Amino acid sequence: MSKIVIFDHPLITHKVSMMRDKNTPSKDFRELLDEISLLMGYEVTRDLPLEEVEIETPICKTKQKMLAGRQIGVVPILRAGLGMVDGILKLVPAAKVGHIGCYRDPETATPVEYYCKLPVDAEQREIIVVDPMLATGGSAIMAINFIKAKGVKNIKFMCLIAAPEGLKALSEAHPDVDIYIAAMDDHLNEHKYIVPGLGDAGDRIFGTK
Ligand code: PRP
Ligand code: URA
Repeated sequence: MSKIVIFDHPLITHKVSMMRDKNTPSKDFRELLDEISLLMGYEVTRDLPLEEVEIETPICKTKQKMLAGRQIGVVPILRAGLGMVDGILKLVPAAKVGHIGCYRDPETATPVEYYCKLPVDAEQREIIVVDPMLATGGSAIMAINFIKAKGVKNIKFMCLIAAPEGLKALSEAHPDVDIYIAAMDDHLNEHKYIVPGLGDAGDRIFGTK
């Protein structure tokens, strides 16, 4: 079964509330998403393995721990996932970035895939899939299907807001994927938008509406 982490840190909760406000402009919305992604990334990377290395301080030689080189890949689901990439890259600058393009058909709310480009060595990396919204779960499930089809075994999913419907669907479809959520919401409305949510994340990031 998926490990599910729902953040309860006051800084994250406060920033998500600011993002929900319909009067928050795109510039602030993007900055908040970036800050939250960095804060979440701290927890998402908690189990990165360490190894002992010898270094020399100005005082003496010493054995200390450093990252054991497990390689990370960040894969945003386009478009809105792009807003969560830089926060992770600030923590893990050497991470490679792949992209999966997928949008929800406005009539059926089912995902339509239009682009997939992953790092060449994706199967050797731990892949963190990022997308602010987990609504029906269709987009995340489809993206992770693609990533698994490339041979990737170690996948995490990180989102800002999840609906119970999407969380259930994703954890059932991919029980081996750990899921990190900044805020858990109530339900989906008749248009499959998250309630209370924050509206259309892509439009709010890029100012397209
Ligand atoms: C949004 C969001 C997710 C998807 C979630 O993208 O960023 O990718 O909807 O919905 P689901 O869980 O029901 O699949 P959207 O399709 O609006 O595309 P965009 O990022 O290009 O705006
Ligand atoms: N996609 C969004 O951007 N917002 C929602 O509430 C649901 C899907």
